[in-house]
Amino acid sequence: MSFKEIAPENFKESVFKMVGRDWLLVTGTVDGKSNAMTASWGGMGIMWGKPVAFLVIRPQRYTKEFVDKSDRLAISVLGEDKRSLMNYFGTVSGRDEDKIAKAGLTKIEDSGQVYFQEARTAMICRKLYVQEMQEGCFADAASNEKWYPNKDYHFMYIVEIEKLLIKE
Ligand SMILES: Cc1cc2nc3c(=O)[nH]c(=O)nc-3n(C[C@H](O)[C@H](O)[C@H](O)COP(=O)(O)O)c2cc1C
Repeated sequence: MSFKEIAPENFKESVFKMVGRDWLLVTGTVDGKSNAMTASWGGMGIMWGKPVAFLVIRPQRYTKEFVDKSDRLAISVLGEDKRSLMNYFGTVSGRDEDKIAKAGLTKIEDSGQVYFQEARTAMICRKLYVQEMQEGCFADAASNEKWYPNKDYHFMYIVEIEKLLIKE
């Protein structure tokens, strides 16, 4: 099966289910070397008049090093049959092993970034805005206390969805 590019406004999937239940495989690529991690927080919408996704990445993630060194990143959404791989990408660090090679996923290169043939949906995204979350900005103290006992605040990335691909 091949991918078809669609306009973001014609995207029919529930973003809540896709991000929160199916999860995203966020992949950074620099000079041909890639690393990927699972993400289940984030969203999609409109910002500065553009179709965007937002992702949050903790400072200790190896993937963050790739994302920070490139203008772009890619997002792949895999099917339920790849749940164990998504858990693998979400528990093992690319600092310790080459996750993509071990997972046996098939790379597709686009705009210097990598998504996977096994995905049902993929996005090539361009970074627009990056900001570290700050303790003093929490309107809800409980979220701060619950999620950041170690003060390892997420960096929020707002990225333009330049290309949205779905399997035909
Ligand atoms: C279901 C699930 C969702 C996750 N969501 C995020 C997330 O949104 N942001 C984040 O920084 N880490 C998230 N993680 C943790 C990273 O995927 C995990 O730490 C991963 O091993 C990082 O790999 P890396 O060091 O190769 O980048 C999630 C993990 C799982 C299992």
